[in-house]
Amino acid sequence: MKQKLQIFIFLFLAHYGIAQDKTFVIRAGAPVAVVPSTMYGVFFEDINMGADGGIYAELVKNRSFEFFKPLMGWKVEQNPFREGAVLVLNRKEQNTANPRFLRVAAPGNQQGALSLTNEGFRGMGIKKDLHYDFSFMYATQSSGIKLSVTLLNAKDRVIGSAALAPPATAGQWKKQEIRFIANETEEKARLKISVEGSGTIDLDMISLFPEDTWKGRKGGMRADMVQMLADMKPGFIRFPGGCIVEGFDLSQRYQWKKTIGPIEERQLLINRWNFEFPHRSAPDYFQTFGLGFFEYFQLAADVGAEPLPILNCGMACQFNSAELVPLAELDPYIQDALDLIEFANGPVTSTWGKIRANMGHPEPFHLKMMGVGNENWGPQYLERLQLFQKAIKAKYPGFKIIASSGTDPDGSRFDLLNKGLRALNTDFIDEHYYRPPQWFFSNAKRYDQYPRSGTKVFAGEYASHPAGVAPEKKNNWLAALSVAAFLTGVERNAAVVEMASYAPLFAHTEGWQWSPDLIWVNNLKIFGTPDYYVQKLYALNKGTKVVPLTMNNEVVAGQDSLYASAVLDEPAHEIVIKIVNTLPREQSVRLQLQGVKKIASAAKLIRLQHDDLNGVNSIGNPRNIAPQETVIRLSGKQPQVRLAPYSFNLVRLRY
Ligand code: AHR
Repeated sequence: MKQKLQIFIFLFLAHYGIAQDKTFVIRAGAPVAVVPSTMYGVFFEDINMGADGGIYAELVKNRSFEFFKPLMGWKVEQNPFREGAVLVLNRKEQNTANPRFLRVAAPGNQQGALSLTNEGFRGMGIKKDLHYDFSFMYATQSSGIKLSVTLLNAKDRVIGSAALAPPATAGQWKKQEIRFIANETEEKARLKISVEGSGTIDLDMISLFPEDTWKGRKGGMRADMVQMLADMKPGFIRFPGGCIVEGFDLSQRYQWKKTIGPIEERQLLINRWNFEFPHRSAPDYFQTFGLGFFEYFQLAADVGAEPLPILNCGMACQFNSAELVPLAELDPYIQDALDLIEFANGPVTSTWGKIRANMGHPEPFHLKMMGVGNENWGPQYLERLQLFQKAIKAKYPGFKIIASSGTDPDGSRFDLLNKGLRALNTDFIDEHYYRPPQWFFSNAKRYDQYPRSGTKVFAGEYASHPAGVAPEKKNNWLAALSVAAFLTGVERNAAVVEMASYAPLFAHTEGWQWSPDLIWVNNLKIFGTPDYYVQKLYALNKGTKVVPLTMNNEVVAGQDSLYASAVLDEPAHEIVIKIVNTLPREQSVRLQLQGVKKIASAAKLIRLQHDDLNGVNSIGNPRNIAPQETVIRLSGKQPQVRLAPYSFNLVRLRY
């Protein structure tokens, strides 16, 4: 009878969710690993209009007429029409990087007789009372041209304007700029340039930037997007890809040397996400490289992150052309890697260090690591990687090399590389996993059995892909919760996984190709997904040392639908415990802290919680799922912590 009653009480409690005691034993005096400062970083790729049309704040699309269709993004209006009044010229022999420009014959003093209107990247985001910097390169034979520049709102009303009369240049290229103010906020503005007066003018690099760029840098980045990154305090920034490093074929691979120096000399390249997905085709997606390698390094320095460039390893995308550089012709690729280290770190007297200094950064960028290849695989990859590794280590022995493990975290391709790269004693293996939420829950112990010595892991790209979240496969609360659960296993194994980054980072609500993504923007607004907050909470609370956390002598990785890990934050004198409750009901746990004399009676509880696993954030509701912070009272030797349904909890205890 007594036993029956006990079973009844157990079933009743389990079903109705009245808290049962579970005890987490935290051995705070017995750290097992140091948490690397690089532990949680970000991965930036120009995908989803992440760079052009995104963080790179240029508002004019196809500013130098180098898109395949030279006037894509531009509308030429003439009244009356004059044959040959607007010509596209190509000076390829003199200027291979920026061959095209426009030659415009002025129509006389008839207002509105000839204009060029740029549509921006799905419109231009314009803010009331903000200044805008309009600039262009031009050459004339005789003076007399007048330009009237106006910003138009979606209803064609003028919301800002400026007038210019460019002096004659006797055929020499010059730059002219003017700043003007906008008097209305508009998400879908356009830029109209009306040409009047006499003569002929050549135009190139027609540009418009807001004044409120990150750090107020002219021609810089969108401040709200950089701020979201800075707020995460990322340990590193992996850039520039991703598949764009590989290219559809080798001619379309990313070449860092073409992305530095004066912007008008940076040769435009098609963005492979232009045509990769027919269902999300973006024929106007190109790389201007206004955000190039110098700016990536500068960004990393600005937000206190280690730069982590990825270079092409002599292989194009193996899902596309799969072109290979013959081994005998790999030297220029390897030289690019060596030169990049000199560009980042070399003295100002070195060839590449001097170029960096001339760009405004005489101090080194302290580059310590580099990825060779993105998602490359097969024996061909191992052959090429070895040659890079040998040459880089010979010149820079302490420099860290990160190698690819292909596209999947298991299977024969993965096994071949995992074994081969460990045999080569490569510093890091870059693992990628885009998987359903269940994979993340059931892989919370993935790294428990990995070797503690030798090659380390870089979880370079991962995202939980919930099924059936049409049409944008948004990362809902289930996706974020599953990643939060998985990361307890990454944190526990900081001795093995020294770096981790979610992917991709940014997406434009009208220009995306790949989803889910961490942060979404439109031309004016921005929001972080629930995954953003998971990443941010891990990064801001990474602590300094991992300490063991067990329940019934086992790591907590799914028992009672709980996942947990713990670290010490030594400078703050706090123990940080991360707990994920994946049940739709409250649970409570007891904390048994060993190895500390005393803990404070109040603790900080930061909670990310939502009752609906399908819940999402959006432009209209950006903080639907966002962290809430409270103070909880701790009593007794084994204080109890209540865990809300479907919640990620972070407890900071002072010791
Ligand atoms: O993040 C999007 C793509 O996913 C990356 O370019 C590639 O590395 C991965 O397959």
